[in-house]
Amino acid sequence: MAALGNNSQKRGLSIHRIAGSLGAEIHDVDLKELDENPGLVREIREALLQHQVIFFRNQELDPEGYLKFTSHFGKPIEYPFVKGIANFPTIIEVLKQEHETVNFGGIWHSDTSYFESPPMGSILWAREVPPYGGDTLFANQYAAYEALSPGLKQTLSTLKAVNTSAKADASKTREDRIRDSGTSGAKETFEVIHPVVRTHPETGRKALYVNVAHTSHFEGWSVEESAPLLAYLFSHQVKPEFTCRFRWQVGSIAFWDNRCVQHNPINDYHGHRRRMLRVTLEGDRPV
Ligand code: SIN
Repeated sequence: MAALGNNSQKRGLSIHRIAGSLGAEIHDVDLKELDENPGLVREIREALLQHQVIFFRNQELDPEGYLKFTSHFGKPIEYPFVKGIANFPTIIEVLKQEHETVNFGGIWHSDTSYFESPPMGSILWAREVPPYGGDTLFANQYAAYEALSPGLKQTLSTLKAVNTSAKADASKTREDRIRDSGTSGAKETFEVIHPVVRTHPETGRKALYVNVAHTSHFEGWSVEESAPLLAYLFSHQVKPEFTCRFRWQVGSIAFWDNRCVQHNPINDYHGHRRRMLRVTLEGDRPV
């Protein structure tokens, strides 16, 4: 893959990297205009593949327009355990209220890696933001993989791991909270085996594909045997140099590639309200 430049001016896009490893803001684009502009859709998709997570500011859409925008990049799907907003089953609310202390997805994770085909990407649109805090961190899993020694890469190349929705209970993330609220009716546990290193279906690059929220052990190994190597990978894969941090404003949108990025919303704004609308896009089985 070609080295990334600092900032670039494409035909219609002004792209500004926000960190050394991943993440770029795209300025001066109105996402309502994508319908008439397939070239712009293509450029945004290229920017996503290159920067792994892209951001837009000041987007004034309604839910229908938001869904339309997301549909240019994949098929919106319903989120497990969480009901969509009225009339839009594929748009969910990610909300933390003033009296709450647990946030949604508040741990490093790759979205729903316990499904056979986890999402290709997710899109979050800020509707209400706290006066401070509530930023989201993202981590580049190509870079995490590439920084490993040849010996460890070789070992990981033959390993698969069990990913489970049950592990999220221990870390108090979204699944336990929604299940506890009784709104989903789902008590079910989802569990699947995926390769520890996956190849991105569009870029062909290899990315580390374990995460602390959902990966419990290596296939054929016990939980106890797996723990030391997994603990190393969990801390390695989110080293500061592989990350970027996004500061939200009302109208900001983040679009991340779930096949090569992990994210972690920071829970540092107790007493304040944060409300986002999220769309999840259908993905492939990791290979
Ligand atoms: C999520 O994990 O989807 C939530 C991300 C965020 O609230 O920033």
